[in-house]
Formats: sequence, structure tokens, C-alpha cells
Amino acid sequence: MKKIAIVTGASSGIGREFVKLLLKGREVEEIWAVARNKEKLERLKNRFGARIKTYSVDLSDLDAILKFGEMIKHHKPDIKYLINSAGYAKFCSYDNLSIRQTLNMIDVNCSAVVVMTLLSIPYMRRGSHILNLSSQASFQPLPFQNVYSSTKSFVRNYSRALNVELKEKGIRVTVVCPGWMRTALYRRAEIGAEKTVNNFFGMTSPEQVAGKAMRDAKAGKDMSVYGFYVKASHLAAKILPQKMMMKLWMMQQDF
Ligand SMILES: NC(=O)c1ccc[n+]([C@@H]2O[C@H](COP(=O)([O-])OP(=O)(O)OC[C@H]3O[C@@H](n4cnc5c(N)ncnc54)[C@H](OP(=O)(O)O)[C@@H]3O)[C@@H](O)[C@H]2O)c1
Repeated sequence: MKKIAIVTGASSGIGREFVKLLLKGREVEEIWAVARNKEKLERLKNRFGARIKTYSVDLSDLDAILKFGEMIKHHKPDIKYLINSAGYAKFCSYDNLSIRQTLNMIDVNCSAVVVMTLLSIPYMRRGSHILNLSSQASFQPLPFQNVYSSTKSFVRNYSRALNVELKEKGIRVTVVCPGWMRTALYRRAEIGAEKTVNNFFGMTSPEQVAGKAMRDAKAGKDMSVYGFYVKASHLAAKILPQKMMMKLWMMQQDF
């Protein structure tokens, strides 16, 4: 059985950083890189070599994910890491998006994480890891990013509860909650809406966040938070009323 890692959203941003770390670590023989854009996946393979296997899958399409699941069943790999990094945001008011656009974000950010996890667990042994990308946005409700922040709260709660359930199998789930990172996320998130998120305080690099996430996963932590600003906002969200947290968020934006 081949030891592998599955990384969704591997073609860009923090997903790509996880691929680089896994290649250095030598814990897995192959990395199955999942995203939609075939050219970007091909570039990843050309850059990092034969240990990368690429799979173009639209994670908003349940049938496409189940087809990927059939492929897992066929190869029966030993999945050492599942890293659910694929996801996206839209910075706008609730009425700037159609119902279909709104549900697509929930499909990619939540449903795909759950389905990929359920398909992978039967092929994971003791000592395996699942890393799910949530966000600082999961700590509180965020007006003008309401669906995105809700999807990330779902990922955080799902991951932490599943970590408890999987303890007896020796599989660890670590939810990663980054603040703003320099990635391509903004290209898709900024749609020219009148009221849009415009304060990206405390921007960090995806490389730093991925490095800490891997260290935290190996240390058995169920949550990984990088940087003083994000840790402080996590603490504030635990202490202050949510209404106050939302007021503070609105004060930071130039609406
Ligand atoms: N950047 C930040 O400030 C930030 C902060 C907190 C949390 N996060 C979270 O970090 C994760 C990674 O984001 P990033 O910042 O690295 O953004 P990114 O550079 O835009 O990467 C997103 C990745 O997801 C893939 N993807 C998007 N939609 C997909 C779909 N329908 N099917 C399959 N793959 C899809 C993209 O590839 P294709 O487009 O080719 O499909 C790409 O590889 C996300 O879950 C995001 O919510 C980001």
C-alpha cells in the first residue's frame, strides 16, 4: 500500500505550501493534488516532480468527488495526510450573490470537506492526520462576509468534534485558523461590491501558517492559530459579547 497525502486546493496559496512541506518531509511516497484548473496542476507537477499526482476535481460537484472516492477505493492507498485546503470567500453584501453562488461557497467550503473526510477515513491508519482549513473568520459572525465566516465556523466545529470521535482510531484532526494571508484568495473574493472588506490587518505568509499547522498537527493539537493578532482575536471572541465583536469588525472596515 502506497503511503500518500491528499491535498485539496494544492495548486495555489497555502495548499501549495503544504505540498512543499510534505515533499521535504519524506513521510509520504505520493501527493495527490486536487484542484480544478488543469494547467495550474500541471505546472505544480512540472515544478515538483513525479511524486505529485494531479486530479482535476470540481469540489462543488458531489458526483465528481464521489468519482474521486471510487479511485481511492480502487488504489487502496495508506492515507497518511488529508489536507482540505480548497475554499474561497466573497467579500460583499448578502444580496450581491445569487442563491446558486451562495450555495456553491457552502458546497466547496463545507460539504466537500465532509465528503473528502468520509471517503478518506477508511484508508487512514493510526498516526494519520486530517488538517482542515478554517479561518480567523470562524471566531465570530462577520457582516459582509456572512456566509464565508459561517462556513469557516462549521469547519472549526466539525473538525474539533470529529477529532474527539477519531481518537480511538489514532487519527488526529487539526483545524487551521489563519488570519489574512498573501494568496490568490482576494482575486476571487473582491467582486467590486459597494460594501466590501478592505482592512487586511496583520497579513502573513501562507508558508509561515502552513509550517506552524504541520508542527501543531504532529504535536496532536486540535487547533492551529498562527500569530499574536489572530491569537488575541481568538481570546477576545471568547470573552466579549458577539455583538461587540461585530461592532469592532465594522469599525475596522471603511464602509
Ligand atoms: N488567504 C487568506 O487570507 C485566508 C485566511 C484564512 C483562511 N483561508 C482559507 O485557506 C484555504 C486556502 O485558500 P488560499 O488563501 O490558499 O486561496 P487560493 O490561493 O485562492 O487557493 C484556493 C485553492 O482552492 C482551489 N479551489 C477553489 N475552488 C475549488 C473547487 N470548486 N474545486 C476544487 N478546488 C477548488 C483552487 O484551485 P482551482 O481554482 O484551480 O480550483 C486553489 O488551489 C481556503 O479554505 C481559505 O478559506 C485563507
